Amino acid sequence: MANDRVKFLDTTLRDGEQSAGIGMTVDEKLEIAMQLQKLRVDIIEAGFAASSPGDFRAVNNIAREVRGPVIASLARAHPNDVDQAWEAVKVAESPRIHVFLSSSEIQVLHQLRKNREEVMEMAVSMVERAKKHCSDVEFSPMDATRTDPEYLYQMLEAVIRAGATTINIADTVGYAIPSSFAQLLRDIQEKVAGVEKVTLSVHCHNDLGLAVSNSLAAVEAGARQVEGCINGIGERAGNASLEEIIMALDTRKDLFKVDIGIDTTQIYPTSRLVSRITGMAVQANKAVVGENAFRHASGIHQDGVLKDRSTYEVMQPERVGVPGNSLVLGKLSGRAGLQSRLEALGYMLSREEITNVFESFKMLADKKREVTDRDLEILMDEEKRESTEPISYTLEQVHFSSGDHDIPTATIRLIGPTGEVFTDASTGNGPVDAVCKAIDRVIGCTSKLTGFNVQSVDEGLDSVGTVTIRIENAGRTFSGRGASTDIIVASAKAYLSAVNRMLGADEEANLPAVGSTPD
Ligand code: KIV
Ligand code: ZN
Repeated sequence: MANDRVKFLDTTLRDGEQSAGIGMTVDEKLEIAMQLQKLRVDIIEAGFAASSPGDFRAVNNIAREVRGPVIASLARAHPNDVDQAWEAVKVAESPRIHVFLSSSEIQVLHQLRKNREEVMEMAVSMVERAKKHCSDVEFSPMDATRTDPEYLYQMLEAVIRAGATTINIADTVGYAIPSSFAQLLRDIQEKVAGVEKVTLSVHCHNDLGLAVSNSLAAVEAGARQVEGCINGIGERAGNASLEEIIMALDTRKDLFKVDIGIDTTQIYPTSRLVSRITGMAVQANKAVVGENAFRHASGIHQDGVLKDRSTYEVMQPERVGVPGNSLVLGKLSGRAGLQSRLEALGYMLSREEITNVFESFKMLADKKREVTDRDLEILMDEEKRESTEPISYTLEQVHFSSGDHDIPTATIRLIGPTGEVFTDASTGNGPVDAVCKAIDRVIGCTSKLTGFNVQSVDEGLDSVGTVTIRIENAGRTFSGRGASTDIIVASAKAYLSAVNRMLGADEEANLPAVGSTPD
């Protein structure tokens, strides 16, 4: 008898984006969606179309460009949300509307301030509305694990009658534990009429560190769709880590006896991309994708692994797409070596592109003993952003001085939109503050720094640092990234990238240009 198939709904672009301090641009979301297509997830929850014009555009672009996975938009149980979700996804090859509504007493009474009957009626009428647009409708009772089970069963029965094709049991606040969650799933299958006609899904948050365990317990109990985010990012402590669930089902197929449609070799590239774009580091000891996940430190383990990898590894690094590392790149390396390493990392470049990257590579290799895979990812990221992002100002030069007895001071030289050169200087609370203020003086506007994150690309003291910055201006938020062996320079690049995005958005909205006078 054939195994059942478990589907994966990736919500990195929706719930993942709800992580504190994350903001992705429309293009970045599309880039991640393209990678999720390569990973072969079954459903991409591309965003929450009604939440902002930017989210609408992101969902709509993904629906238009991505082929293969179902493309879903989230919608509250409001007519406008449902209609907007449909407008955004209707161009997809396979569209889905995902309606959610609180079901627990605590949320129904204190957040929605309605009674159970009113909430039931909202759920049914909005699923019916979604169904008029789209045959594929998912319904999530929010906070299902703290909901009176009898009310939950009634609600599920009613939305199935109204046309829902997937019902998603949301452990919204990460309250469940594996045994009771599995029991809830079994009870639902026993007590809800019509449940056998729909896909039973789970969506687990990680407040107690149990999101992956709960999801796996649910699969054992009959769930056939699992929701999660790459690297486990998401609201508060995050969502279930999709790659961990995938590899558990893959590695312990003997136990779970289910099939999945994932290309596991795309896990590592997907994890790296999400980390780079969100600026959220993956902890070194993170299962499956952490820096140390396949590193063996103790002598006994190394001895075993050298004789036979399976002595201390339950899965091979190649299975999750961690590239083998036989070549050390440094300042003596040539174009062929660089090209071969980039290809191993999944970058297929034209001759011209290789020439451009090789120049940046040589500059970096002059500053670093060894250029690692992570460095190459950063180089590629910078190259890509330079060729795709709106660039009003480019950084020509940055100089700063600071110390425990000095006033931090920075001088900035920027090239403006039509090639003019601008120079200005500022003091600040620290060198980063001084650099940002000097940039503000050139551009002629002030933005509030609301997020600042520095990551070391690898372990050496000569490591490249990547800086992710978020700025707020007139109620809008923009993020920018920059990389350099000098973190103040990386900060200047990141700040300027965020400012350029802001200027690009102003231009799109036809707002008056800000600027100053050239030297
Ligand atoms: O956690 C949650 O309940 C959600 C729903 C919208 C599915 O994210
Ligand atoms: Zn959630």
